[in-house]
Formats: sequence, structure tokens, C-alpha cells
Amino acid sequence: MSAGNGVREKLKKLEREALAELQAARGEAQVRSVSTKYIGRKGLLTHWLKEVGKLPAKERPILGQMANQLKATLEREAERAIEEERKRQKEEWLRLEQIDYSLPGRRPLRGSKHLITQVTEEIVSIFEGLGFEVSEGPEVELDYYNFEALNFPPDHPARDMQDTFYFSPNVVLRTHTSPVQVRTMERRNPPLRVIAPGRVYRHDSDPTHSPMFHQVEGFIVDQQITFADLKGTLTYFVHQFFGPEVQMRFRPSFFPFTEPSAEVDIQCVICRGEGCPVCKKSGWLEILGSGMIDPEVFRFVGYDPELYTGFAFGLGVERIAMLRVGLSDIRIFFENNLQFLKQF
Ligand code: PHE
Repeated sequence: MSAGNGVREKLKKLEREALAELQAARGEAQVRSVSTKYIGRKGLLTHWLKEVGKLPAKERPILGQMANQLKATLEREAERAIEEERKRQKEEWLRLEQIDYSLPGRRPLRGSKHLITQVTEEIVSIFEGLGFEVSEGPEVELDYYNFEALNFPPDHPARDMQDTFYFSPNVVLRTHTSPVQVRTMERRNPPLRVIAPGRVYRHDSDPTHSPMFHQVEGFIVDQQITFADLKGTLTYFVHQFFGPEVQMRFRPSFFPFTEPSAEVDIQCVICRGEGCPVCKKSGWLEILGSGMIDPEVFRFVGYDPELYTGFAFGLGVERIAMLRVGLSDIRIFFENNLQFLKQF
């Protein structure tokens, strides 16, 4: 008997055994383990395939073909067994599953816009009604736009009020939306009437300050814009947003990029001006900073300060939202507490 005959016998025996074991296997795991036993990397048939390679040249082709065919058969059979097993399981599952079609469905949860988004949109739409167009700028901003071109010289103490995160000496998280003024003026010529909502950042954290908060910036540049335009525009806004009965006042202030500058207070909406903890007994609440754009800013962007004037303002959205719904802690906006958020 040649060596080839011995191998031939072995292969036939392997075939019988392997097919029988596949038949008997129950479940996908068992099928896989039979398959590994024969055609895995260290499997029995794999071993014999290597043996065939060592046979004399005249026996190799025919036995090689036989062994390869057997391998293909086993692979196919194992696939089929797994398929069948899956089908069987699925049928079993369908048989067991009992659906009660009379059960009420589960309602999908209805989402809503965050209060800050709603208030921002409301503010923006009031100004859109006055012909302002919306613009936006980056939150990661160059020191140049956030400070320098807004007339904060390096090392000027006014920067202390707006400490922030520095990516590098020249790149910061913007501390206000005012850099959008500079970016817009650099790109375009007057007349401009722009409203710019967005997120801003400061090194600040307590019940009335969040390290991240929202502002809406607004500005107008044209010939012969005066402080009367500023006053009229902001008065219109306050009356639209809070109601015509709410008192307001302009208080002198300072910003490096406006001259003169004013902050706007409204009568405390909690105590109606009587004095309470929210307004610190003053009866007034600050809602925005504003002023006539400083000629120095116009020089930075290449506008002629003799020809053009303008005003700008920056509103704190959280502040305004808190007053609108009577909240005393700003942090609740950013805690993702659904009990709170769902009320709006
Ligand atoms: N950017 C100022 C701040 O955040 C607000 C402001 C905007 C003041 C525009 C004047 C003009 O404090």
C-alpha cells in the first residue's frame, strides 16, 4: 500500500466523522467548535492538508484535490448548520412572542428649545424687525479682535474685568460678542445694522456668573448716528421685550470701545422697584452695556471717524431670561435638569 492510500483512507474517515458531528451539533457554538476541530488553524483536516504536501509528486495532485474539496464541503456544511440554527431560533422566538396589540403605544418625548435659545431668538427677532441683520463670529478668538482692536491696550487694567482662557498669548476664548463689530467692519463698509448672538466666556463663577454665558451684540454705523438713536432703539427694545410699563434708566459707564458709554437698568421685575434681594434693594437691574462706538475702533478698521458715527450694545441673555421668568441662580440653565427645562 502506498503512502497515498493511507492518506486517502484517513481523509474518508475524517469526512464521515466530521459530517456526523456537524449533524449532531446543537446551537451555533457547537457547530463552530466542530468546525474549528476539523478546519481550524490546528484542525485535523488542516493537519492532513499539510501531510498531503509531503507525498510523492504523482500522488499529490489527486489527494490534494480531495482534501481541498473536503475542506470546502465542511465549510459549506458548517455555514448551512449555522443558518438553520438561526432560522430555528427565530421561529421559536416568533412562536413564543405574544403581542398584545391593545396596549397603548409609548409616546415619543416632545423636545423643546432651551430657554436661552428661546430668549435669544426673541431678542434677535425684535431687532430684525428694526432692519438689523444677523451675523456671528468665532468663540475661539484672536486677542486682536477680542481686546486690541476694541481699544484695550496690552496690560490695560480694563482687561482684568474680562479674564479668560488663553490658548496662547494671542488666542483666547472670547469674553464678549464685541469682536464681531470689528470683524464685520473690517469686511464691509457702512451703513451697517447688525445683531450678533453668541456664546462668551469669562473666569467667573457664582450664583449670578457662569464661566460660559450668552450675549447679543448689536451695532449701527452710518453717517449722523447719535446718542438719541441709541436711546430710542434700546428703549424700543426694552418696551417690546419686558412691556411698555417697565421703567428703564441709562447710567454713565465705561468701556474702552465706546465713548460715551452707558449701562441700561430696568426696574426690578421681582419687586417692581420697591427693593428686594434680587436687585440688592436698589430697585434696578442691569441688563446691558452700550455706548457710541469709539473713533479709535473706527481707526483700527479703516473707517473715517470724521464721516461715520455709530452705537453699540451688548445684552446678557441669561440675565434677561432670569428676569423674564424670575430666577435667582444662573447655574440652573446649564445643569440639564429636565424638571426645570421642561417648564419652558
Ligand atoms: N462687550 C461689553 C461687555 O461684555 C458690552 C458692550 C457691548 C458695551 C457693546 C458697549 C458696547 O461687557
